[in-house]
Amino acid sequence: MKKRIFSGAQPTGELHIGNYLGATKNWVELQNEYDSLFGIVDLHAITVPQDPAVLRKKSLDLARIYLAAGVDPDISTIFIQSDVPAHAELAWVLNCIARMGELERMTQFKDKSGGKSERASVGLFTYPVLMAADILLYQTDLVPVGQDQKQHLELCRDIAGRFNRDYGEAFVIPDPYIQKAGAKILSLKDPEKKMSKSDENLNATVFLLDDADTIMRKVKKAVTDSGTTIEFDESRPAINNLLTIYKLLTGKTEEECVSDFEGKGYGQFK
Ligand code: TYM
Repeated sequence: MKKRIFSGAQPTGELHIGNYLGATKNWVELQNEYDSLFGIVDLHAITVPQDPAVLRKKSLDLARIYLAAGVDPDISTIFIQSDVPAHAELAWVLNCIARMGELERMTQFKDKSGGKSERASVGLFTYPVLMAADILLYQTDLVPVGQDQKQHLELCRDIAGRFNRDYGEAFVIPDPYIQKAGAKILSLKDPEKKMSKSDENLNATVFLLDDADTIMRKVKKAVTDSGTTIEFDESRPAINNLLTIYKLLTGKTEEECVSDFEGKGYGQFK
């Protein structure tokens, strides 16, 4: 029997090249080898206020983006999370297994609640438990995600292990699948931050539906580091990020990417 993968994205905002290079591209590469399920996780989206009609439309838009990115509906299953009530049902059971202390350690909650946890929804707090339910419901072996989901995956493994220990072997313990290159694509305007759907600076994020001129403009305006050479170098995150994007989109090796720009400056590179 084939092993199974599960992953998903929220139908909020538009997908950007961080989502694509960190997650969706890997889904497409893995789908032939694994039994694959890709959710449009609208229940996760309502942890912050949403207009129901807009959310419905964005859910369908996201399905189109999955298809455009190469998810093949003949071999993979694409579905909307809220169409399968078992996600919310299992999340409740797992909420009774997860501990407050574990959830309080989740950095994404701290970031998203902006330090004002008193005013955040309880849903935003237990969001990682719903994510664990998504994964465990399907006895998932592997979860291809970006770096920002690693902590949630560790929580999922802990919850599954505790459930199995206390109530008998029920769940497969899933492994994260996080590729080194692309796991954290950075903002084009601030390489201290990851690229994000909700960045206020519209030039910081390249959306998958941006037209060619817009993408060109954003890349040309991208910040660069103080050095001049075009090389992979983690101590120069801005150029490292741009080169990583180039590498993943062209499928070239690091050596090939560097030799493409040997002796050239930022102007020619961008
Ligand atoms: P979401 O919608 O924020 O992001 C979708 C996927 O994109 C990855 N990602 C990135 N990868 C690299 N660089 C970036 N700058 C970047 N930004 C986002 C995310 O890691 C993710 O893989 N909680 C999840 C959705 C979810 C899920 C699940 C995922 C719900 N249930 C079960 C896997 C399994 C989320 O909000 O992803």
